[in-house]
Amino acid sequence: MADGVRIHVTKDGPYVVRGAVPIARQTIVTDERSESVAWREGESLPVKPSCILCRCGASESKPYCDGSHALAGFDGTETAPFVPYDEAAVAIEGPRIVLMDQVDICADARFCAAKGRAWHRVERDDEESREIVIEESDLCPSGRYTAVELDGTVHEPALAPAIGLVEDPKAGVSGPLWVQGGIVVTSADGTPYPVRNRVTLCRCGKSANKPFCDGTHIEAGFDDGAINGSESATW
Ligand code: FES
Repeated sequence: MADGVRIHVTKDGPYVVRGAVPIARQTIVTDERSESVAWREGESLPVKPSCILCRCGASESKPYCDGSHALAGFDGTETAPFVPYDEAAVAIEGPRIVLMDQVDICADARFCAAKGRAWHRVERDDEESREIVIEESDLCPSGRYTAVELDGTVHEPALAPAIGLVEDPKAGVSGPLWVQGGIVVTSADGTPYPVRNRVTLCRCGKSANKPFCDGTHIEAGFDDGAINGSESATW
């Protein structure tokens, strides 16, 4: 768990980040087939003891909040259940590995299809497929997918506490906040969500599974300024 760092979801408002934590752009890298294959870390924001990040998608100072949620009449009602991943995810059991899948938190980063669709690969009885399932699951920012060995050993990428501002040039959009390293996220009423090594929080304001991203930012064409070059003054 990330000691001292917390993200508080405010009612119809922004995320309040308490505790010094690195915040940097994280861009999805695609290969010649346009498949998502890696992450590239970009510019960093100055590390502060606390900051307030936009959740509605309307701020002119993204990734920070500028109060636009009030003018926009943002409805940030939290609809995600407080159910631990182990209970919410479905287990796809293969001969060499188990793929855990919680579809409602999918951030549509598409790493799960790069080398062979993980949900098909898991059913194969060969070592290459097992390794692909692990690799693709580890790259998944939301933690929708997790690979679990047959003896119960869970694969998780080594992530230090940090917040990534996801950019998806292939889809032509910006994405969610990629919250890494076990940072506690609390709801507007103070209830903590189950703590995970990786989650993605909606910052376009359009998710139907708030506060988590559900991939709607692609349909919404969300751009924090990095995609079409209208950078805010905060970088
Ligand atoms: S950022 Fe993904 S749905 Fe809002």
